[in-house]
Amino acid sequence: MNFDYERDTRKFYQDDTIAQRYHRMFAAPSGWRNLPSRLVARRERRTIESLLARVPHRTALDIPAGTGKLAETFAALGTRVVAADVSASMLKVAEAEYARIGYGRVAFRVEDAGDLSGFGDGEFEVVVCLRLMHRVPAALRRKMLDEFARVARCAIVSFGIENRFHKLRRAARAAVFGGLHGSLCFCSKQQACAELEPAFEIVDRVWIAPAISQEMVFLLKSKTASVHAEAA
Ligand SMILES: C[S@@+](CC[C@H](N)C(=O)[O-])C[C@H]1O[C@@H](n2cnc3c(N)ncnc32)[C@H](O)[C@@H]1O
Repeated sequence: MNFDYERDTRKFYQDDTIAQRYHRMFAAPSGWRNLPSRLVARRERRTIESLLARVPHRTALDIPAGTGKLAETFAALGTRVVAADVSASMLKVAEAEYARIGYGRVAFRVEDAGDLSGFGDGEFEVVVCLRLMHRVPAALRRKMLDEFARVARCAIVSFGIENRFHKLRRAARAAVFGGLHGSLCFCSKQQACAELEPAFEIVDRVWIAPAISQEMVFLLKSKTASVHAEAA
């Protein structure tokens, strides 16, 4: 079955059972099957924390916040967070996660990353977007990136990068475990940079865990946030 953004990304997580299963994948304390997800999630949190530490900030928009993977990261930095996602089911689990760690400087909002008109120009100091771009077609990705650059001065955005090694490994995994193969919205590093450059200056880029994940995280400075703020 071919990948379809509406079905496989936007609507897919709008289900309580899927949301709980997604959370268990990386939050369950033990188990071999989800070990790679746990390792990747740990690397993601560490990477985002170290990149956030380089961006002087008090406020952040975490979109998609999912089930609150970054709750402890924001708590460690004392960030005031808006945790947004198109799925109320995912946010319900995120709310429980923030409550579990006892961090209250957070507001939850159902929002679509393709239309952030509910937020003002430069409303945040930083936007964090983890694990969405690889499930979004390029044209819509550019719309989302423009929105991130409008609502914040800086952004931290992960892309799913495809090289030959990743392609082979993904095909082998799909053959063994099943699931979607060959059709998520991965792109080359050059394509990711070309998509980012109209709206952002690329400050840095970091692989999360190249042997087991295709995720590369970009630290970005908006080219448009200050223009929007001046015009307002
Ligand atoms: C793979 S999960 C990643 C969640 C979280 N960032 C993490 O790393 O655990 C993808 C998330 O994107 C959300 N999503 C899909 N389309 C979206 C959109 N257009 N705007 C906001 N969130 C979206 C889904 O509901 C889901 O929570």
